[in-house]
Amino acid sequence: MSDLKEYLAQRCQFVDTALNRLIPGSDARPMTLHQAMRHSMFAGGKRLRPILCLAAAEACGGTAEDAVFNACAVECLHTYSLIHDDLPCMDDDDMRRGVPTCHKVYGEAIALLAGDALQALAFELVTKTPMAAKHPTAVMVLELARTAGSLHLVGGQVADLQGEGKKLPLEDLRFIHEGKTAALLTTSVKLGGMSANASSEQMQALHEFGMATGLAFQIIDDILDVTQTSEKLGKSAGKDVAAEKSTYPALMGLEASRAEAHRLTEVSHRALDVFGDAALHLRQLSDHLLNRDY
Ligand code: IPE
Ligand code: IPE
Ligand code: MG
Ligand code: MG
Ligand code: MG
Repeated sequence: MSDLKEYLAQRCQFVDTALNRLIPGSDARPMTLHQAMRHSMFAGGKRLRPILCLAAAEACGGTAEDAVFNACAVECLHTYSLIHDDLPCMDDDDMRRGVPTCHKVYGEAIALLAGDALQALAFELVTKTPMAAKHPTAVMVLELARTAGSLHLVGGQVADLQGEGKKLPLEDLRFIHEGKTAALLTTSVKLGGMSANASSEQMQALHEFGMATGLAFQIIDDILDVTQTSEKLGKSAGKDVAAEKSTYPALMGLEASRAEAHRLTEVSHRALDVFGDAALHLRQLSDHLLNRDY
């Protein structure tokens, strides 16, 4: 466990250094826009998606240097989705990553545009990944585009908003969680694999790992919203009940939600069998995501 702590800290620093280099400086014009992008990006996110991307590359025999652009790309896409998720017209949140949300500091128009710019930057970064023979640049861009679009992340966010005040069937809730969260976690590991020239068998395994880990991740997020304090989470707790969101705890209770997250983590471990010891960090990461308390 202490090994994992060290691994996470080292990877986090690696990703932060790269992001700092790849995002325009706060003195680039328009300065307010770049300051807003940096405000949300460097507020202290856990960097789980880029770390998963790097660990997947490692499982496929690749290097962190080859995977770093894709790792930064998924963090840019994720941070855009958080900025927009917090807007008053969406979840209307005041706190994110332990600091005031982007729109609280810079206003709604700049927050909206900072999100737009981070999303565009995500695609630019994918094109900087050195091309691996089996995965042309266009295929990597397509992977991110599909996940970002109306059938996955944006579609999941729409279904999430439309589900407020309703008790949805479990099947519909699963659709929301897979779209808004599991899709990007899956793409994070797949883009890591692609940068390492992964085989089709390895890509399939990463897909199964990502979907199971990603759904477990959002179930835990729903649980933490009920069980943790805002201070611990760095974002307002208790918001899901207040907004009458459809969540796993609301639908099946806390204990059954925890059991489901456990089951999915076991599924994610089985998917990694093909990698043997090379997937040590991916295995540790999926356990860590299950047991996290923020
Ligand atoms: C929060 O993601 C949004 C969800 C999809 C649940 P994280 O818990 O990874 O947030 P950061 O990046 O650490 O702030
Ligand atoms: C957010 O889900 C998913 C995305 C940002 C795409 P939530 O709305 O539950 O995330 P938090 O709890 O605000 O971080
Ligand atoms: Mg939301
Ligand atoms: Mg939210
Ligand atoms: Mg949440």
